[in-house]
Amino acid sequence: MIISSSHVVAMTGAGISVESGIPAFRGREGIWTRHGTPAADGYSQFLEDPEAFWARQHLGRAEPWIAELRNALDAATPNPGHIALAELERAGALRSIVTQNIDGLHQDAGSRSVVEIHGSRYKLRCVDCGIRTPREELFMAQAPPPCESCGGRVKFDSVLFGEPIPPEALEASMAAANQADCVLVIGTSATVRPAGGLPRIAQSNGAKLIEVNTSETALSKSCDIVLRGKAAEVLPQLAGGVSLGRATSWQ
Ligand code: APR
Ligand code: ZN
Repeated sequence: MIISSSHVVAMTGAGISVESGIPAFRGREGIWTRHGTPAADGYSQFLEDPEAFWARQHLGRAEPWIAELRNALDAATPNPGHIALAELERAGALRSIVTQNIDGLHQDAGSRSVVEIHGSRYKLRCVDCGIRTPREELFMAQAPPPCESCGGRVKFDSVLFGEPIPPEALEASMAAANQADCVLVIGTSATVRPAGGLPRIAQSNGAKLIEVNTSETALSKSCDIVLRGKAAEVLPQLAGGVSLGRATSWQ
């Protein structure tokens, strides 16, 4: 299915980084399952009073689950699942990745065409003009200075619940969904909009859906193929099969 497709896109979620030691959000061991989902007013709180928001962020760093997540993110390295996707891209069998993850592990694994629809933990973003800057110090004691280019309010690039997806990220994600003729839906519960709706948009344009997930999701029933297993185990097999298949199909 992948070999006979001409525009394969991978759409990944927290599940692809579980084998890198980063817990997923939902499901038995999920962060939200264990600590409750954050309130959806984080973004409006930021807009109202960025200083107070950053002060709370700084205080919040003491919360055990935030410290757990931060340590996991700091220690994480790409796993064979991320590496397999980078190999598929190098082999010309994968055009791009749309990831909901903020951990940067796809880029660390060597993937070049990556859309971070929920932003990146390694960047700051001005909410008024959209400019992104690198985020050296991950947990700052006070709010970053106003945006150098427009004097606007600067927050971390990662998208908060209730925050609009930055326009260029949304556009690139929609373009990927509209151009794909085959989507690898990997390690996502596909519950958060708009990211969760992208596979169905691709499918409505005739794309095939291949799901890689350890458990059933809301999307499973409408996928053409379901590979029930860990991304770090399934994706290397998939990449191996594709390179073998391409080699034989070219003889
Ligand atoms: N391999 C493959 N899939 C896995 C693995 C694994 N090793 N471990 C867990 N999964 C699957 C789970 O079965 C689940 O379907 O990964 C999915 C993780 O789902 P979520 O925790 O909901 O993560 P995600 O879909 O990425 O969440 C989307 O929600 O909290 C927000 O912004 C946050 O980007 C996140 C968004
Ligand atoms: Zn600005």
